[in-house]
Amino acid sequence: MPPSTNQPRRTLLLTGASRGIGHATVKRFSAAGWRVITCSRHPFPENCPWEMGPEDHIQVDLSNPEDTLRAVDEIKQRLPNGELHALVNNAGISPKGPGGSRLSTLNTPQEAWHKVFQVNLFAPILLARGLLEELKRTHGAVVNVTSIAGSRVHPFAGAAYATSKAALAGLTREMASDFGPLGVRVNAIAPGEIDTSILSPGTEKIVEQIPMQRLGTPDEVAKIIYVLCTETSSYLNGAEIHINGGQHV
Ligand SMILES: NC(=O)c1ccc[n+]([C@@H]2O[C@H](COP(=O)([O-])OP(=O)(O)OC[C@H]3O[C@@H](n4cnc5c(N)ncnc54)[C@H](OP(=O)(O)O)[C@@H]3O)[C@@H](O)[C@H]2O)c1
Repeated sequence: MPPSTNQPRRTLLLTGASRGIGHATVKRFSAAGWRVITCSRHPFPENCPWEMGPEDHIQVDLSNPEDTLRAVDEIKQRLPNGELHALVNNAGISPKGPGGSRLSTLNTPQEAWHKVFQVNLFAPILLARGLLEELKRTHGAVVNVTSIAGSRVHPFAGAAYATSKAALAGLTREMASDFGPLGVRVNAIAPGEIDTSILSPGTEKIVEQIPMQRLGTPDEVAKIIYVLCTETSSYLNGAEIHINGGQHV
């Protein structure tokens, strides 16, 4: 996709860019000429695989609400003209029990449950609310990354993760209603089994049941995120798009 030359450069804020779906999303937006500001716990990687500098990376622990609000202030200072065109809430955590076992409603420790909700649900609303003025200025878009596990019991995804993603789908609906009149669209994507490090051993058994009989690739997710942040989706608001090869049918 060639960079657009007749438009001012647009800016995306993306959480959790260092691996998987986030990584593919940076590549997709950068190729289209966007500036991408990334957020994650680790510092700016010296051997960054795309063209950006430390001024385009914010080190933040999204499991900590105070640190998240501090990051919002830092992000605002890095936005020229106070404009943000898109926010993609992609960072997500899915804790496991001993030996990689599934944590259910019966054995998820209280602290783990809180941490999952802080990263997967509360950080997205802290960021979106904190950057609302910047998004309003551009008639921007928010994309929340939910999961197929938010709408059905999944053999590997734990109970805290699944309920946080169900709540994030609900949050998307509420935000679409509140942000829509302000000119900001809010949608979600719900990936199924995407070929990243979050997958558990045994996923091949699930793949046999998927109508398309294969995993999705991070780029197949990234390109839908791109559509949700651009003109092609100008009348889409409050949707949750399933990207799962038909796994949900
Ligand atoms: N892969 C799948 O099949 C699949 C399926 C359904 C939904 N999803 C969702 O898609 C999203 C991306 O998944 P993925 O598989 O690409 O994830 P991943 O490879 O596990 O990457 C997670 C990202 O989140 C960041 N992160 C984790 N904890 C953080 C924290 N406390 N503060 C800030 N950043 C944090 C990580 O960076 P640092 O380590 O540097 O902090 C990393 O960049 C997640 O929301 C996931 O739930 C994935």
